[in-house]
Amino acid sequence: MKRIYEGKTKDVYELEDGTIQLKFKDDVTGEDGVFDPGANTVGLTIEGAGRAGLRMTEYFFGKLAEAGIPTHFIGADVDRQTMNVRKADVFGKGLEVICRYRAVGSFLRRYGAYAEEGQPLDAFVEVTIKDDERQDPPISKDALVGLGILDAGEYDTLKELTKQISGVVKDELAARGLELYDIKLEFGRDAETGEVLLIDEISGGNMRVYKDGEYIEPLKLEQLLFG
Ligand SMILES: Nc1ncnc2c1ncn2[C@@H]1O[C@H](COP(=O)(O)OP(=O)(O)O)[C@@H](O)[C@H]1O
Ligand SMILES: [Mg+2]
Repeated sequence: MKRIYEGKTKDVYELEDGTIQLKFKDDVTGEDGVFDPGANTVGLTIEGAGRAGLRMTEYFFGKLAEAGIPTHFIGADVDRQTMNVRKADVFGKGLEVICRYRAVGSFLRRYGAYAEEGQPLDAFVEVTIKDDERQDPPISKDALVGLGILDAGEYDTLKELTKQISGVVKDELAARGLELYDIKLEFGRDAETGEVLLIDEISGGNMRVYKDGEYIEPLKLEQLLFG
């Protein structure tokens, strides 16, 4: 087993059989010691954060498997804070795909002249490129195809999967009186088959969830869901 990447919140190992193991750390992103899921730097360490993120991820990947949605998930060991997954090649240097049900965050910062905070959005999908130095800029389908990051068919698959996956998460939360405002997903191509797969994680740090109009912090959310 060899470490192939040290991420902000997870370490990535390649196993002998060519699959990948993700180790969920207790490091969370933020700035000046304040937890901020949208930040691009590690801000602080919170005991139990890795375990909580993995529990939520395991739960949602299980739901997606039931729905027949292709993901990288193989299995998880919550006590060891590890998750085994199929190896994927990311698009370019990695993309983030966001699905928005209400206008908050960077959407509102960019389009505030046309949108009000909390305004409903119809599962609006947008893609950003993972580039910490350039603050993860948004990118259009034409630019993605033109730059050779993915082809038009892959973009359409990615968008369709994003709507399906986000819908599953939204419904699961709604059943518990929680409302999903937005969610951020990652995709890759299965290293063996080339199939477009959901990769990475689905945890509190990847979404904004509200209860009765009030924002629920990621760790609070994980606690609400799994005690
Ligand atoms: N199935 C997979 N195959 C290959 N790489 C993956 C897979 N799932 C997730 N990754 C990558 O592993 C890394 C996880 O570590 P993380 O701390 O989240 O990194 P980052 O700081 O880049 O967000 C990410 O770069 C993610 O793209
Ligand atoms: Mg990450």
